[in-house]
Amino acid sequence: MEGLQVKPEGRYVDATVGEGGHTSAILEKGGYVLGLDRNKEQIMALQKGMNNDHLTLVEGNFADIAKLVPAKDKGNIDGILFDLGLSWAQLKDLGRGLSYRNLDEPLDMRLDQSGELTAEYILNVYSEDELYEVFAKNSEEVKAKEIAESIVNYRTTKRYKKVLDLNNTIDKVMGANAGKTYSRIYQALRIEVNEEFENLKKGLDGALSVLKPGGKIAVISFHSLEDRIVKNFIREKKLKQITKKAIAGDRQLSFERSAHLRIFSS
Ligand SMILES: C[S@@+](CC[C@H](N)C(=O)[O-])C[C@H]1O[C@@H](n2cnc3c(N)ncnc32)[C@H](O)[C@@H]1O
Repeated sequence: MEGLQVKPEGRYVDATVGEGGHTSAILEKGGYVLGLDRNKEQIMALQKGMNNDHLTLVEGNFADIAKLVPAKDKGNIDGILFDLGLSWAQLKDLGRGLSYRNLDEPLDMRLDQSGELTAEYILNVYSEDELYEVFAKNSEEVKAKEIAESIVNYRTTKRYKKVLDLNNTIDKVMGANAGKTYSRIYQALRIEVNEEFENLKKGLDGALSVLKPGGKIAVISFHSLEDRIVKNFIREKKLKQITKKAIAGDRQLSFERSAHLRIFSS
């Protein structure tokens, strides 16, 4: 909130409204918020739970932010926030195989169901090289090759359907040391299914196009490759970084452990 310099009557876009935590903080300071989320369930829950005449909620992908901001507000936005990734509720309850802990869920992973690509499709259809690319490129997984090979082996007799099927394959390669590999493989698939890197690039471009001169953009990323996209964007567009370096999250809190915040202005 400090970095965005939220002020009463200011215009803000919360590009990842989620469960409304950041949005509530902006509303408390008297700002107007356009809250976007591509996950319909998040928007529906907020529509029931949050009532404020400074708040507009829209289901949509932040890649389309330039179209989702009303014409009268274009070029007049004081601050835009991206808090990337998933929320706690989605990991726990969405029922689409986003967490390796929910063994019985289908391997879907779509945040919105308008797209056709699912994790199940990737696991059952992508070639070994394509699977390797997904794990190496999206998560820098060192065992990407071995896991891709093991997936293709599994497919000779069975099809991937549920979280447990994928966990068993990871266990086969990693033995007792599967711990962080689960997180990286699930993250890599989620990024592929939801085109997260491409959306971030489009979202940043769009955000800049609706921002007021001197307006602020804040991005919280949870992944070094996402942070690199933000860093490169700031450099390429010659923007002013307000925080000199990315501010790291609280390492004691599991959810914030890998968080990096960058704030910059036009
Ligand atoms: C970490 S949560 C945000 C939590 C939120 N800041 C809060 O205080 O509750 C990330 C949210 O971004 C949404 N999301 C992810 N990619 C998106 C995209 N391309 N466009 C819009 N929303 C997206 C997810 O559905 C999720 O609800």
